[in-house]
Amino acid sequence: MQFIDLKTPHQKYKAEIEGRMNAVLEHGAFIMGPEVAEVEKQLASYVGVKHCITTSSGTHSLEIALRALGVGPGDEVVTVAFTWISSAEVVPLVGAKPVFVDVDPVAFNLDVSKLEAAITPRTKAIMPVSLFGQMPDYAAINAIGAKHGIPVIEDGAQSFGATQNGQKSCGVTLIGSTSFFPAKPLGCYGDGGALFTSDDALAGKMRAIRTHGGEKRHHHTMVGTNGRFDTLQAAVLLGKLPHFAWEVAERNRIGARYSELLRDVCTVPEVVPGNTHVYAQYTIRAKERDALGAKLKEAGIPTAVYYPKCLHEQPVFAGTSAWGDLPVSEQASREVISLPMHPYLSEADQDKVVSAVKAAL
Ligand SMILES: Cc1ncc(COP(=O)(O)O)c(C=O)c1O
Repeated sequence: MQFIDLKTPHQKYKAEIEGRMNAVLEHGAFIMGPEVAEVEKQLASYVGVKHCITTSSGTHSLEIALRALGVGPGDEVVTVAFTWISSAEVVPLVGAKPVFVDVDPVAFNLDVSKLEAAITPRTKAIMPVSLFGQMPDYAAINAIGAKHGIPVIEDGAQSFGATQNGQKSCGVTLIGSTSFFPAKPLGCYGDGGALFTSDDALAGKMRAIRTHGGEKRHHHTMVGTNGRFDTLQAAVLLGKLPHFAWEVAERNRIGARYSELLRDVCTVPEVVPGNTHVYAQYTIRAKERDALGAKLKEAGIPTAVYYPKCLHEQPVFAGTSAWGDLPVSEQASREVISLPMHPYLSEADQDKVVSAVKAAL
């Protein structure tokens, strides 16, 4: 059994994906070929915003967003510590300081009741994460941001395809950022990412920073980078996008079925009212997490721990928050374990996982 199956979708959609890739091999515009603009148009329309700017990764997306907002030395960015390192590492990369807020115990997302206390006159952005495929309460976060005049960036690397009150992830804040890393809900065949906004000026800035700070060729108006999305990866997404809505529906169905079958034996990932979940990870909590992982391994079931340490426990972020400052995040990192999850998981395999979890617990 695979933790995430990337082979089956390729076999299923091979003709379309390879057809789009072969077209790139034939025309040879490997950098910023026509497929990049085509996929940006489709992605912006899917999310429901005016602009999509594809990038070379979800990490680079976040960095470009911070640069476009002018975040720099002396500034603070509020985010969470129970997440992948990218969500915070981009902050010192632009010279600013990450300020960690604890998460809620149900969805593992930024605890909105603790957000305002983290805001100081130096706060230049709020960058919550939509962890595991479900969004935090962006209406409340945007309201706090607006009250203090601070822009909000959604790190939607794990939540592409999820919704909140009918609005798509990456379309609910000033800037939305996602990743097309192969294992993400919408994955390409290498690294890739995208930024989303309906703000014309910000879109222009992010587009320019993404391509060496140039608004046109050989005219560089700001410090930029090489953050372009490969044309071949754009072709992969164009081949996969027609099937994405079905994949999201399957993720919902499979995640809900897991929860129904496991609710009695462990803490399952509950979907907050108003949200849909894409289960980039199907993550349960169990006090005896490590023993459970070992037993599942013996039963031939792959698992993963996202994340065994919070970011304030990482040497690179030593001194940002003390142990005990973020108790919900700290406890989560000791109790979470993710089970095999992808849109092609058969009921038979899912039943095998469920039986093994029940037997182990
Ligand atoms: C929450 C989060 N943010 C950012 C990223 C960065 O994305 P990428 O791997 O495309 O750089 C990831 C991906 O692992 C992620 O899970």
